[in-house]
Amino acid sequence: MTTVSFDPASADFGQLVQPHRVHRRIYTDPQIFDLEMTRVFAASWCYVGHESEIPEAGDYRATTLGRRPVLMTRDRDGSVNVLLNRCTHRGTVLAVEAGGCAKRFVCPYHGWTFAPDGQLLAIPFPADHPVEDYSTLSLGRLATASYRGFVFATLNADPEPLECWLGEARDAFDTIVDRHPGGSIAVMGSPQLLEFVGNWKLSWDNAADGLHATFAHESYNTLGEKVDTETVLARDPGSTPMVSKALRNGHMVVDQRPGIPQGPWETMRKVPFREPMEYALVNAGHAGLLNLATGSMVNLSLFPNLLFVGNQLLVIEPVAVDRTRLQLWLTSAPDAPGEIDLLRLRVDEDFVNFGTPDDLDMFERVQRGLSIPEMEWIDMSRGLPDGSVDGDGSTIYGPITSEAPQRRYLAHYTTLMTTPAVTRAR
Ligand code: FES
Ligand SMILES: [Fe+2]
Repeated sequence: MTTVSFDPASADFGQLVQPHRVHRRIYTDPQIFDLEMTRVFAASWCYVGHESEIPEAGDYRATTLGRRPVLMTRDRDGSVNVLLNRCTHRGTVLAVEAGGCAKRFVCPYHGWTFAPDGQLLAIPFPADHPVEDYSTLSLGRLATASYRGFVFATLNADPEPLECWLGEARDAFDTIVDRHPGGSIAVMGSPQLLEFVGNWKLSWDNAADGLHATFAHESYNTLGEKVDTETVLARDPGSTPMVSKALRNGHMVVDQRPGIPQGPWETMRKVPFREPMEYALVNAGHAGLLNLATGSMVNLSLFPNLLFVGNQLLVIEPVAVDRTRLQLWLTSAPDAPGEIDLLRLRVDEDFVNFGTPDDLDMFERVQRGLSIPEMEWIDMSRGLPDGSVDGDGSTIYGPITSEAPQRRYLAHYTTLMTTPAVTRAR
C-alpha cells in the first residue's frame, strides 16, 4: 500500500487526483482544506446572493465566501457591492445577522462607521486618532459581477470576466431563468439551513450523480403513486435518455428533459393542495404555466458553491474539513400568478423533506469511511473512457450514470489547487 505524503501546496498535489481514483486526503486533510479556502473559494468567482434579496438602498445580506465573512450591499445609486465583513480598525466582523437594512454599518467594538459602499465615514473622538485619509481605511472590496440578477464575487487579483468563467454553462443558466415570465426570477425570504458532518466536495460528487438516486432515495421513490417515473429517480438510470454534461471550470449539468418528453408537470406526484391550485390555474387559462411549478429539469452546478436543484438554489458553505453548511433558497416567479409560487413551495418541500436527508446521511457515512487511513483511494472510474467531447474540447457528454462530471470538476479543482493564486481586497 502506498502512502501519499507531501506539502499540500506543492505540485505533487496532482498525485491525489488521478483519472480513475481520488485520494481520501482531499476530503480529510485540514491543510488541504485551508488551501482550498484561498485557491478555490477566494480565487474563483463564487455566488454571493441574488439582487432580489437587497431591493432597496441600504439593504444588505451577510454571507461567506468560503469561510471569509462578506457583505452584499445595495448602494444609494442602486449598485451592488460585495465587501469584506471586517472592520478595518481591529478586525471585528461588522454584521452578524443574516441581513437587514442599514444606512451605515457601525462597528460594535469602538464605533467606527462605514457606508454601504465600504467607505469609512467616521471615527469617534477623531482628535486622538492620527488618520489623515479615511479612504485608506475603507472596507475591503471584492471584484463583483452579476449574471441575470445572480451576484458573484471574487478576491482574485486578476479574474477572467464572469461571462467567460460561466462559459458553456450560460446555456443552462439562461434556460433556467428564461422559463419564468419576463425572465423574472427572485429569491424568497431566508434560506433553510442544513449542516452535515462531511467535506464540502461530497455535495459536489453528488450533484451530477445520476446513479445514487435509485439506491439512496429508495424510500422516496416508493413513496407515492408514480413509482415507475422516468425522472432522474428512475429505477434503471442506465437506460434513461437523460444526459450529464461536464463543462469547463468544473461546472456540471444534468439535463433530465430528454427523459420526460411529456413535460415535468406530468411527472409530478401528489403534494398537499395540488388539486385546488392546479384547478384554479387551469380555469384561469394558465395550464401552460404548470411546468413552472416544478423545477426546470436542468440541474446546473456552478463550481464551487452554487447548485440549481429544482426551483431551489443550493449554496455550499464549507465550515471545516469535515463540516459543511447548505443554504437552500426557494426561488419565485414574480410575474406569474401567485398559485405558481404556492405550488413551488409545496413541490420543493417534498424532496427536501423526503429525499435530501438521504443525501446528507450518505455524505456523513462517506466521511466516516474516509477516516480509515489504511484505505486510501476512492474509485471514480465509472463511465471511462469519457464520452463525446465538443469540438473545442469544452464539454464531455455522458449517460447520467457516468462519473465524468466528477472527474472533470476534480481535474479543474486540481488545476486551481496547484496554481498559486494572487488574492487581494480592492
Ligand atoms: S474593531 Fe471596529 S471599531 Fe474597533
Ligand atoms: Fe440525492
